Amino acid sequence: KIPLVIDTDPGVDDALALLMAFNDDRHQVVGLTIAAGNVGLEHTVRNALKLCEVAARDEVPVFAGCAQPLLYPAEDAAYVHGRDGFGDVGLAAPVRQAEAEHAALALLRLSHQYAGELLLVALGPLTNIALALKLDPTLPSRIKRFVVMGGAITAHGNMSAAAEFNIGFDPEAAHIVFEAFPAIDLADWEATLAHGLHHRKVEQWLQADSPRARFYEQISLQTRNWSADRRGEYWHSADALAMAYALEPDGARQLVERPVAVEMAGRLTRGATVVDWNRQHGRPDNCRALLEYDQDRFEALIHRALAAGG
Ligand code: BDR
Ligand code: CA
Repeated sequence: KIPLVIDTDPGVDDALALLMAFNDDRHQVVGLTIAAGNVGLEHTVRNALKLCEVAARDEVPVFAGCAQPLLYPAEDAAYVHGRDGFGDVGLAAPVRQAEAEHAALALLRLSHQYAGELLLVALGPLTNIALALKLDPTLPSRIKRFVVMGGAITAHGNMSAAAEFNIGFDPEAAHIVFEAFPAIDLADWEATLAHGLHHRKVEQWLQADSPRARFYEQISLQTRNWSADRRGEYWHSADALAMAYALEPDGARQLVERPVAVEMAGRLTRGATVVDWNRQHGRPDNCRALLEYDQDRFEALIHRALAAGG
């Protein structure tokens, strides 16, 4: 099995991505490293533990990471995911606690343990991974594949006009990561928008007779309603699409490779992912961005993940 570490800030769409990973028998989730982002770290850690409990995956270690962006405080996305990050449905506290080891140290340790084999998937702000890189700049040499949900390659941001949330929450961390990794498989916000899920279909999947579907129906209700009010018939699940690309890369139908840099200083563009479309700066292509993924395959992965364990 391919060892998989997921750096994540659960978050409703993170939760769906985690269920997809748990349900994939070609991959083994060997650790969840938790970032602050959608909501504060206290909540994202708790949500990761709760999700493992519901999915009966309590053997997966959960490591708490950085509680703040590297330099500047940032606003969370509680208005999308709920104040507790899981739709404010009054969940009971998880039984288990996080491991004592810091997420950045756990990531480095796991990168040695599974050197050359590890699939790393980042579904939140890149703070933990940037810190790990500062502690050990040789990290990328031990990662087999690195998939990032982040960015807005044609500058249709969701956090600001130019910035997507995961990059905009901690642009300095994203800069460190985009400079250090030579080949990032990027699933950006525009890819998310191009792969909407019809609300009626999602509601049908959520009727599956399984604890996972019942739980997900509850925690996603608020954000599905929020999204239906703003974006109409289709629901968008950024982290689920990134996870589909991670688990089944051959579902990708169209990709584009270019050098991508992160803007840290712009008055209007802080957190933008700047793509050198014409390769004007002579820098190597460091990102392979997903433009199109097999929609049926994407939907099947979600459907199966929700129905599993029924
Ligand atoms: C990203 O931001 C978060 O709100 C989601 O969990 C996803 O990772 C989308 O921009
Ligand atoms: Ca996320």
